[in-house]
Amino acid sequence: MMNYRAFVLTVSDRSFRDERPDSTGPAVEAALEAAGFVIAGRGLVPDEQPQIEAALRAAADEGKAELIVTTGGTGFAPRDVTPEATLCVCERLAPGIPEAMRAASAAITNRAMLSRAQAGIRGGSLIINLPGSPKAARENLEAVLPALPHGLEMLSGRPADCAHTQS
Ligand code: MTE
Repeated sequence: MMNYRAFVLTVSDRSFRDERPDSTGPAVEAALEAAGFVIAGRGLVPDEQPQIEAALRAAADEGKAELIVTTGGTGFAPRDVTPEATLCVCERLAPGIPEAMRAASAAITNRAMLSRAQAGIRGGSLIINLPGSPKAARENLEAVLPALPHGLEMLSGRPADCAHTQS
């Protein structure tokens, strides 16, 4: 596959306040690099919807990365608003991605149903929410990684290998 660029946004009050080192961001970066992605940038914001939205808009609109992955803030806690921020900045949704993540995760833990993760497209970027723990983030990412290059190829507008078979 082409070496697509990925931007990793950690959403965490505690890491933002320096109360806990961000271990999930680096774990996600390692998994993406192992799959052939180049890490084009990273960010760290608190669980504040305007700040999450601003970071997502900047990463997408500056053309920094074809893939933008968030970690954290997808659960039921009052301050978990990453999915809402993602819905606000996306122009088109990609529900199959969180469906696949939750289906794969349900085989690991019944708490998979507690992730409210979303995925969608803003301009030339695909945005995917992952849960906040390193284990959960890795498991969710691994469930969808194999299909991402084809999706990113279609998003880029290059002729994809499934577009010309219908007569
Ligand atoms: N998915 C997988 N694969 N493995 C997990 O351990 N944890 C769940 C869920 N998805 C988990 C998972 C839990 S306990 C929660 S609360 C939600 O993800 C949301 O996580 P977040 O609040 O850290 O974003």
